[in-house]
Amino acid sequence: MSCLPDKNTDYSSVDYWNERYGSEESFEWCKSYSVFKDLIRKEVQPSDRILMLGCGNSSLSEDMYRDGFHNITNVDYSTVVVENMKNRSEEARSMQWLVMDIKDLKFESGSFDIVIEKATLDALLVGERDPWSLSSDSRTLMDDILIQVSQVLSSRGRFISITFAQPHFRKRIYARELYGWSIRTETFGDGFHFFFYVMTKGERLSDHDAQLDKSAWTNNHNNLESQPAVTRLQQREDNNDDCSSSYLNSIEM
Ligand SMILES: C[S@@+](CC[C@H](N)C(=O)[O-])C[C@H]1O[C@@H](n2cnc3c(N)ncnc32)[C@H](O)[C@@H]1O
Repeated sequence: MSCLPDKNTDYSSVDYWNERYGSEESFEWCKSYSVFKDLIRKEVQPSDRILMLGCGNSSLSEDMYRDGFHNITNVDYSTVVVENMKNRSEEARSMQWLVMDIKDLKFESGSFDIVIEKATLDALLVGERDPWSLSSDSRTLMDDILIQVSQVLSSRGRFISITFAQPHFRKRIYARELYGWSIRTETFGDGFHFFFYVMTKGERLSDHDAQLDKSAWTNNHNNLESQPAVTRLQQREDNNDDCSSSYLNSIEM
């Protein structure tokens, strides 16, 4: 199977991922751990209980394990990738791998100190047409997921989101008083930048971000001419050239 889907919305289909993972052993979205490990080390303690959302066949969890973070639970809704990953390495065998839909997290409240997603929410937003204004379906979907992320976090826990999505688009999604967290943004990568968002539970949104929450969902930003040009992302990562560039061109969130 080609890694490229017939249409962009296939990135939000479990059938697409199951078929893809039937033949693909490893693929790293955004960047690999070595590029942003300093940011992770700043936010995560070795003893933290970590949940990886939409782990795919990325080596992020194994790389973190080798770097001293041993309490990692990985979830993905693809049965194929979870089965493949369970025995992929000695590190993988020491972690938990669960088939689970991130829209329906089956964990007790406060089960994790850290929740990480890398390019997983991007895959769910790939069908969006206007980056300034989420469709109501996507808004509901993001609320469903992010409310649960907040619930499974411990009282001062952190949600880390690693993504191509620039702050003027992505902060509108994460800045919700409802989630009970603050937002910080870090940038990494040479030339082309990737984004590392840290949401800390139990802290308030800044005034600016709280304003985003108030305005983002009441304004309809339909005047496309007034928008800055959306970056057409052309960054290519390692050996994953064709898939990455196509995907990057298709998401503008
Ligand atoms: C773009 S890939 C990112 C994979 C990995 N996080 C990485 O950085 O390379 C998106 C992953 O999210 C998974 N996924 C998408 N929607 C999901 C959902 N609702 N529940 C669980 N996993 C999901 C897909 O199966 C796929 O493995």
